Amino acid sequence: MQISVPKERAALETRVALVPESVAKLVKAGATVVVEKDAGLASGFTTEQYEKAGATIAADFAATVSGATVTCKVQPVTSAEAAALPQGSAAVSYWLPYGTPDTLTAIQARGVKLLALEKVPRITRAQSMDVLSSQATISGYKAVLMGANALPKLLPMLSTAAGTLVPAKVFVIGAGVAGLQAIATAKRLGGIVSGFDVRPAAAEQILSLGASLMKLDLAAVAAEGEGGYARAQTAEQQVDTQAAIAAHMKEMDLVITTAAIPGKKAPVLITEAAVQGMKPGSVIVDLASETGGNYEGTKPGETIVAQGVTVIGPLNLPATAPFHASQMFSRNVLTFLNHVIKDNALTLDEADEITGPMLVK
Ligand code: NAI
Repeated sequence: MQISVPKERAALETRVALVPESVAKLVKAGATVVVEKDAGLASGFTTEQYEKAGATIAADFAATVSGATVTCKVQPVTSAEAAALPQGSAAVSYWLPYGTPDTLTAIQARGVKLLALEKVPRITRAQSMDVLSSQATISGYKAVLMGANALPKLLPMLSTAAGTLVPAKVFVIGAGVAGLQAIATAKRLGGIVSGFDVRPAAAEQILSLGASLMKLDLAAVAAEGEGGYARAQTAEQQVDTQAAIAAHMKEMDLVITTAAIPGKKAPVLITEAAVQGMKPGSVIVDLASETGGNYEGTKPGETIVAQGVTVIGPLNLPATAPFHASQMFSRNVLTFLNHVIKDNALTLDEADEITGPMLVK
């Protein structure tokens, strides 16, 4: 049973799929773990730490995956990398949004079983395998820091000899995992925080973090879907929501948007008029930029300034805190591996309620 951990080569990717702490646990359980040289360097984990954990170090991708039972990555293997994967082995990584049909064909041509970490079902038993949650925590935290850094203001109220500084007003749209972390982080930094989500259950969570709710008749715009997720609002609901958001944003200094519908383009919640109504110097951090943006003007991977309002469209925020992002990602992967490794052998049961949905076909 060999577990292989190659170095990530995708642009902006600084994380590593397994950190030394998890490697040590797998080695103790009887697995052979092969880690590519410098695989953890960008996230703060040295080759020496991996060696100490019991890993064998390999010089390049091909040597790392040679003999692998399962290859663990953050980003999907590329078509070129797939050619080096052992016939009949397995690969665990994110598949979407960067996996392509061509790559899937190349992976399947090797008889490799691909397991997508973003498909871990949102059930209690699989919570500790859920990379969407662990990485969204980092995105929510980092979005606030990024926004605070771009603001021409400080977040907290400060009483100084040079007078009192008024606290900044922060508004978080979408109160899932990332949004709630953004609310908590903005509160810790001393901002006056408000939030909004179309799921009625989120209202209580927003309030429990000490934030207030945006004024809007939630019953009229609520859009709760299945499994605790949101569904797309009707066109009429969306127009009412956009109007309420535009009115609320006039007073805001920093707006963090995180609204998402699983498997769909992000809902457009911020109109051009809403941005025009903001004070100059205000900042929007659009965490939905990778799926189209909650503001249509957002440019993924860019920062633009429109009428004095800075709009940031960050990509791969978890990779900007790679030590903790990798630590949590690695614990998620380790829990999954423990679920599928039985008697030092990999057992991928399609009928299993966790493994089944993760298998990419
Ligand atoms: P997500 O990333 O899919 O969406 C982010 C947020 O945007 C959600 O809270 C959603 O309700 C909100 N949203 C969608 N459309 C909106 C709109 N038009 N206006 C305002 N907000 C809008 O969500 P995430 O963070 O993945 O969490 C979704 C749900 O899954 C939550 O209920 C969360 O508690 C639950 N969850 C369950 C887990 C488990 O049981 N293992 C693990 C993690 C989350």
